[in-house]
Amino acid sequence: MHLSEEQRAQFERDGYLFFPSLFSPEEMQVLNQTVPELYARREAYNVREKGSDAVRTNFAAHMYSHPFASLARHPRMIQPVEDVLGESLYMHQFKINGKMAFEGDVWQWHQDYGTWFNDDAMPEPRAMNIAIFLDDVNAFNGPLMFIPGSHRLGVVKAKHDLTTTSYPLWTADNDLISELVERAGGRQGGIVSPTGPAGSMLMFHGCLLHASSSNLSPWNRVSVYLSLCAVSNHIRRFKRPEYIAHRCFDPIECLPDDCLLKSYPVDLPWAGGMPEQALVTSEHMLSADREVA
Ligand code: SIN
Ligand code: MN
Repeated sequence: MHLSEEQRAQFERDGYLFFPSLFSPEEMQVLNQTVPELYARREAYNVREKGSDAVRTNFAAHMYSHPFASLARHPRMIQPVEDVLGESLYMHQFKINGKMAFEGDVWQWHQDYGTWFNDDAMPEPRAMNIAIFLDDVNAFNGPLMFIPGSHRLGVVKAKHDLTTTSYPLWTADNDLISELVERAGGRQGGIVSPTGPAGSMLMFHGCLLHASSSNLSPWNRVSVYLSLCAVSNHIRRFKRPEYIAHRCFDPIECLPDDCLLKSYPVDLPWAGGMPEQALVTSEHMLSADREVA
C-alpha cells in the first residue's frame, strides 16, 4: 500500500494519517485470539498497571508470536512508512497496549521521540509510530489524542515521569500543552481523537504530541503500537532492555498481503524464552567495564 500525494501533504501538515478499517475483522480476530495467552505470561515483557494485574503493555510479541511476527512484516503498514522515510526500516519497538476495561490507566502527554532521543540516543526523529486497533476505539475507552501539527515544533521540553503510571515516560508539562493546543486551534481542532472500528490504523510522527485518558468504560481498548525506524537512524545507546528498544537493525522484509490469514514462515528468535542478554543494558555493561578496569 502506497500513499497518494494528497496523503503525503496531509501527513506533513497534521503529523498523522488515519486509515479506518484497513484490516478486516477476520484478520483482527487472528491477532485478538492470541492476546489473552500472551498477557497471562509472568514475564518481564508484560508490564502491568500500577496496583493492578491488568496488562498495560506487552512488549516484543513479534519475537515470539507467529501472528504478531506476521503483522510486523505487513505491507499495508511497512510500505507507506518506507515511502515517507525513504529507506528500509527496522523494528525499534513493538507493544500491545491493553487499556483494559475499568483498569486501563492514562498515558501522559508526550512525544515518543523525546524518549528515543533521551534514552536510546536515536540521532533524528526519522522513525514512525503505528497504532492498529484490535478493539473498536470510541470516545469512552481511552482513545489516543493528538495535537495536530505539533510534530513541526521538533523536540519540546520534557521531564522524566517515573511515578504517574507503572511505565516511565518523558512527558510535557500542562502549561506547554495548553499553549500548543491553543496554537493548534483551541476548541476548534486543537485536539483530535481518531476513533473507529477494530482493524483501523493510525500512522503518526515521532514528534507528534499525544496522550490518552484512562478507560472507565466496560470495553477493552487493545491496540498494537509499533515504532519503525529508518535503518541508518538506528539507536546508539542500549540504556533500555532489548525487549523495549530493539538492537537488531536488519531491514524488515514484507510478507504477502494475506499474511494474517495464510501462514508464511517467519523467524521467532524468542519463541523458547527471552535470552538473558535482552535484559542487559548499557548501564550494566558500563558497570561491568568499571569492575574490570
Ligand atoms: C503510547 O503513547 O505509546 C501509548 C498510548 C496509548 O496506548 O494510548
Ligand atoms: Mn507514545
